[in-house]
Amino acid sequence: MPAINHYVFDAYGTLFDVHSAANRYAAEIGPQWERMSQIWRTKHLEYTWIHAATDRHTAFWTLARRSLDFAAASTGGLSDELKSKLMSAYRTLGAYPEVKATLTALQARGAKLAILTNGDPDMIDEAIKGAHLEGLFDAVLTVHEAGVFKPHARVYKLAIDRFDVVPAAISFQSSNRWDIAGGQVFGFRTVWINRTGVPDEYPDMPPAHTITDLTALVGLSH
Ligand code: LAC
Repeated sequence: MPAINHYVFDAYGTLFDVHSAANRYAAEIGPQWERMSQIWRTKHLEYTWIHAATDRHTAFWTLARRSLDFAAASTGGLSDELKSKLMSAYRTLGAYPEVKATLTALQARGAKLAILTNGDPDMIDEAIKGAHLEGLFDAVLTVHEAGVFKPHARVYKLAIDRFDVVPAAISFQSSNRWDIAGGQVFGFRTVWINRTGVPDEYPDMPPAHTITDLTALVGLSH
């Protein structure tokens, strides 16, 4: 197997904390803020899968708003003003605390780093700037170029085309277990970032490694 020198990261949930938007406005949303945020995320992802399976590609941003509308309506409702604030917060989500140090350590040893995300190009640019991660990525790849959401193989192919390597030369990190399943089927060496200790699933599409946050990636021998 080729040595690993290319690290490709999912963005939302892996580098950026999707729940940091609702957390920022927790007091205004009320005690159901975490449930609202969970539904928002779950529905957002479901919408991507349905749009991919029906071949109706749509901006991730549009689906973020539709899923927020659903999540708000199903947890008692939110004002339009608060929904606008949440959407703005979604553009500058906080990065998880270990992200910058981990990426910096990998870059320092000469690794090539990339993001591969469902997010729209303008969303992901703002997220990188907002979290002060500029200069760390050799490539920022979005599904916009593939015209379909993950886990379609066309999306994962963007990474091997960009770096001109075989799939097994790439270490793919995601906290989304379904994204790890897609990456594993494609042939990446996969690292599942199981931040919240959720049970494993997709037994026929297992990760090569499971770690609790990105820190351990630096010492991992693939
Ligand atoms: C992404 C979604 C899956 O960043 O979180 O691609």
